[in-house]
This record gives sequence, C-alpha cells and structure tokens, in this order.
Amino acid sequence: MSETLERWQSRRAFILAVTGAAVGLGNIWRFPYMTGENGGSAFLLLYIVFVLLLGLPMMMAEIMVGRAGRRGPMQALAYLAGEAEVSPAWRWLGLFGAITVFFILSFYSVVSGWSIEYLVESLSGGFVDRTPAEIGTAFDAFLADPPRMIFNHTLFMLLTMSVVAAGIANGIEKLNNVMMPLLYLILLVLGGYAFTTTGFGDAMRWLFTPNPAAITWSVVLNAMGHAFFTLAVGACALMAYGAYMPEEQSLPRAVFSVALLDIAVALLSGIAIFSVVFSHGLDPGEGPGLMFVTLPVAFSELPGGQLWLAAFFVLLLVATWTSSINLAEPMVSMLVDAGLRRGTAAILVGALVWGVGLLSVLSFSTLADVHWIGEMNFFALVSTVPPDLFLPVGGLLIAIFAVWRMPQPLARQALGISLPLFRLWRWLVRYISIPMAVIVLVSGLL
Ligand code: PFF
Repeated sequence: MSETLERWQSRRAFILAVTGAAVGLGNIWRFPYMTGENGGSAFLLLYIVFVLLLGLPMMMAEIMVGRAGRRGPMQALAYLAGEAEVSPAWRWLGLFGAITVFFILSFYSVVSGWSIEYLVESLSGGFVDRTPAEIGTAFDAFLADPPRMIFNHTLFMLLTMSVVAAGIANGIEKLNNVMMPLLYLILLVLGGYAFTTTGFGDAMRWLFTPNPAAITWSVVLNAMGHAFFTLAVGACALMAYGAYMPEEQSLPRAVFSVALLDIAVALLSGIAIFSVVFSHGLDPGEGPGLMFVTLPVAFSELPGGQLWLAAFFVLLLVATWTSSINLAEPMVSMLVDAGLRRGTAAILVGALVWGVGLLSVLSFSTLADVHWIGEMNFFALVSTVPPDLFLPVGGLLIAIFAVWRMPQPLARQALGISLPLFRLWRWLVRYISIPMAVIVLVSGLL
C-alpha cells in the first residue's frame, strides 16, 4: 500500500480529532469510579504522574509512527520496519491494537448506551424529587433489564458505525468543536455547585491529601492503565489519526494541550462526583455505576436541574461518540486495506463488536456470576484487562519501536522538533517511560 495523501484540513482539525478520541467515558465515568475503588488521592497522584511521564511521551511516539508511516497502522509499521531493516513482525503490533480496541469498544458502547437511557429519563422528568437511594435502585433495575440495555447499546453502535461507514468522521469532529466547550461549561457549573455542597471539603481532602499507605502494585497498575485509556494511547488508534497529520504542524504542542485538557476534565468530574458522594453518605467505591447514581442527585439539587442533566448527557454522548469512532477506525481501516469496501467493513466490525457487547450487557443480570478469570465476570474482565494491560503493553511496544527500531532522522522529522528537544524526548522514552512501564507491568502482574 502506498502512502496516504489524505490530511486533516487544518491544525485545529487534528487537535480536535485527538481531543475527541481522548476525552470520553474515561474522564467522566471511568476516572471517578477507578479513583473511588483505588484509594482516592493515591490513584489520582499516580494517574497524573503516569500521564505526564509515560502517557504523553508515548502518545508522541504513537502519533509520530503514524505520521512517518502515512498508512494504516499495520502497513505503517511494516513500511517503517522495512525502511529500518528490522523484523517485519512489527506489523503484528497493529493487529494487537485492533484486538484491544475491539474489546474496549464492546463495553464502551454498552456504557455509552446507559447515557442514552439517562438522557431520555432526564427529559421525561424521571429523576425529579427522587432520593439518592431511589436513584440507586432505579439504576439497578435498569441494569437488570437486558432488553432496555440491548436497545441502547444497539442504538449507540448504529450511531458509531454509520459515521465510520460513511467516512465522515470529519463532520463529527466539527460537531465536537461546538459541543465540547459546552460540556466543559456544564462541568464548570457542576464544579461550582460542588463547592456549595457539604461534601466539598471531604471530597477535596479525599482527592488531594497524600495517602501513600493506599498505594499497592494493583493501584499502580490500574493508574498506569487508566493513563493510557484516557489518552487513547497504546492501541494504534492514534497512530491511524497521525497518518493524516499535516506536514507543518508541531506534534508536541498538540499532544500537550490535549493531555492538559484531559486531566482538567477528569479532575472537574471527580470533584463534582465526590462532593455528591460525601454530601449524601454514598460509597466512593460504588464501581461502574458511580456517575449514574451521583449525577442525577447533583443535578436535581440545581435550579432547572433536569434540563442541565439532559444537556449533560447529550454532550457526554457526543464525547463518547468521537471516542468510539476512534476506537472503530483502526479495525475498519485495516479491513479496507485488505480489500473490503468501507461500508462492508463497518457493518462487519459493528456486528461483531455488538455481539460481544451482549456479553457485557448480560453481565449485569443473567451472566453476573459467571466468572471468566478469578472473580471477574465478562464486563469486569473486558473493562479491566484490555485497558489496564493490553494498552500499556501496546504502548510499550510502540515506544520501543519508535526509539530503538525506527530510523531516528525519520522519527525526528515526524515529531517536528529541534535536535536537543528530540534527544530529550528520546531519553525520556528510553530511560524513564519504558522502564517505568516494564516495572509496573511486571510488578503488578506478579
Ligand atoms: N480515551 C477514551 C476515553 O477516555 O473515553 C477511550 C479510548 C479511546 C481508549 C480510544 C482507547 C482508544 F484507542
């Protein structure tokens, strides 16, 4: 396959696409509940360290490989391996990425479906005058209702795959452009509301008072996985986007702003959610339902709360939509490279992911007690192992390829930075990011 000539139409378009991929359920849904389950401030601190020392340099590596290869992930890796005269087996890293996004998308779509349900529920006034306990019970009832869950999961997969099939991700990025600032605004309003609640002080203390005693290897491993997940790094999905990056754009500047925004969104969402948790005596370790139980409570206490809540879910849906498009793209483009038509590839990928997603749907009812590994049912398994293990492994291999295998002048050119900065980046990846990831993976798994 020859080099792609397609480019994002502007620098802004590229930044928007990467922000769209990064900001999603990871920030608003996963970050708070993972923090809740992993000791609060300990997790938060580790997550920020990992984003800065590991996620960011590796994100640069991943996008850089895509930009230098100017092809879909597998072909880009094969082409660059050829240029560098190293093993052509590196291309299989692209396949590993596709497997990772396959499983991630299967549960991502199910949880995004919950947002659709909650959007409709808030529009129909379903949360008015409900106590936190009632809201919690209603959420459990929803989870125990597979047809409703399947309906929403199906709808979300259709939304995602129709955009991917039409190849109009660009159009969605434009929508994102308008909607995301509104999402940040609502989060700011929520943060302001959180400030007025009785639980605000406790939430801040719980999030920001250092608590080294809570740090275990499993907390460290989860925080590292989450840093990859939230930045969308390690699955070659950003590599696919990097292939369309304009020649003259500075890569470090773009990824730095995305990472900062990503942290800011997660922090705001965490502060809002934990203020509600502590104001109402809820459990921070509630798990994946945390956001769906706390936010209706928070909004019901705001004037015009139902409308705010509905607006919040619309915006969250747009945020998850752009992430799921990014998740689907590497699989679809790989099949297109293999000769399938885009529409056919999208239908095939969509149907398979949808089918596997049903196992996640049923993990809250019929299959709740079917354990696949240890105590984990299917949903627990796919929402943990691909994000916390496959992404770091993928990111690690991409980074090794970028700093030890690729021809370095090519790498520097694709990063678009000066020689001293390039040396600094390479040093950071070689001697900090890569060893850090190896140590955490090995220790966390033992
Ligand atoms: N970064 C997305 C989020 O935070 O919701 C999830 C994600 C997208 C993970 C794309 C991995 C990926 F390749």
